[in-house]
Amino acid sequence: LSLDKGEYRHYMLKEIFEQPGAINDTLAGTLGTDHVLTAILGPDAEARLGNIEHIHIVACGTSYHAGLVARYWIEGQVGIPCQVEVASEYRYRTVAVPANTLLITISQSGETADTLAALRFAAKGGYLATLAICNVAGSSLVREADWRLLTHAGPEIGVASTKAFTTQLVALLWLTTALLQSRSGNQAQVAANVAALRQLPELISRALELEPQITRLAERFANKHHTLFLGRGPHYPIAMEGALKLKEISYIHAEAYAAGELKHGPLALVDENMPVVSVAPSDSLLEKLRSNLEEVRARGGELITFACESIDQEGASPQDTLSLPEVADVISPVLYTIPLQMLSYHVALVKGTDVDKPRNLAKSVTVE
Ligand code: G6P
Repeated sequence: LSLDKGEYRHYMLKEIFEQPGAINDTLAGTLGTDHVLTAILGPDAEARLGNIEHIHIVACGTSYHAGLVARYWIEGQVGIPCQVEVASEYRYRTVAVPANTLLITISQSGETADTLAALRFAAKGGYLATLAICNVAGSSLVREADWRLLTHAGPEIGVASTKAFTTQLVALLWLTTALLQSRSGNQAQVAANVAALRQLPELISRALELEPQITRLAERFANKHHTLFLGRGPHYPIAMEGALKLKEISYIHAEAYAAGELKHGPLALVDENMPVVSVAPSDSLLEKLRSNLEEVRARGGELITFACESIDQEGASPQDTLSLPEVADVISPVLYTIPLQMLSYHVALVKGTDVDKPRNLAKSVTVE
């Protein structure tokens, strides 16, 4: 992973294409055949993981979205109550900390002022332990946390975070699996998560092949001023991340909604000038999502759907639906991130913005 853009026009595009390798590097040495190697967290990690009864996750920006996905995994698979909050709010409110709570901070840089302040606040007491999930080994966040889980995305230069996000998701799914394993719960699920994690680099390489179709799709955003992103379940935070990417680098106003909330307000905005991007994998929520999308179609909204290749897209035109490989539900949020990153990149190219250094933003916000 060199610091040179190589054949790529921008760092962001290079970093998008580095994701299969970055995930491989993050997983190296962390997986056994049908279990995770918890020793990477320290000698008595399994026993300490077994004591955790609550989890608080604190982060900013894209890293916060990784935390939101993790809540679905941790509560859904392990049954540990998990709350997720942006660091700038967390640090200034009174937080109730139940006994045996683990604080997780997530940060690409490990130097974000608000996230660091949250960790320092938590270190004063009340928590069982603190864990930093971070991409920079020597950062303040990693030095000050009790436990650390490093993502090995390599240096990320583009201000809009891409490979740092997907490797954070990988670290969080690994952690979910470690928690499940430590409480001798569903060992078949442990083995299934390990198998799914191993498949990710190859699946992401396949998703990257969608680039020509996404390039064509991006042209349709040239004159748009607003976009809605919809998802349900763990794909709702993926829709949030898609909207954030589009805002950051193309300057198009974008908002994400949990698709079931559409009828409670944003549906009023939908007309032919409003592209609606939906993340529609073949999970248990697909039928619900489809009826949400029907509401958009009926109002003349321009629908763009990222869906599973195995599902019949009744009534949808092929140029509006992009197909992704069918995958285990648990890793689907990681996979669906890829086309949304590429969409924002190509829309930014159409708009002619400074992709790697968007106006007003910094890679790492080290002051409040
Ligand atoms: C800045 C960056 C974002 C990033 C956020 C949190 O706003 O522009 O891309 O997600 O900081 O950064 P961190 O390094 O803590 O993940």
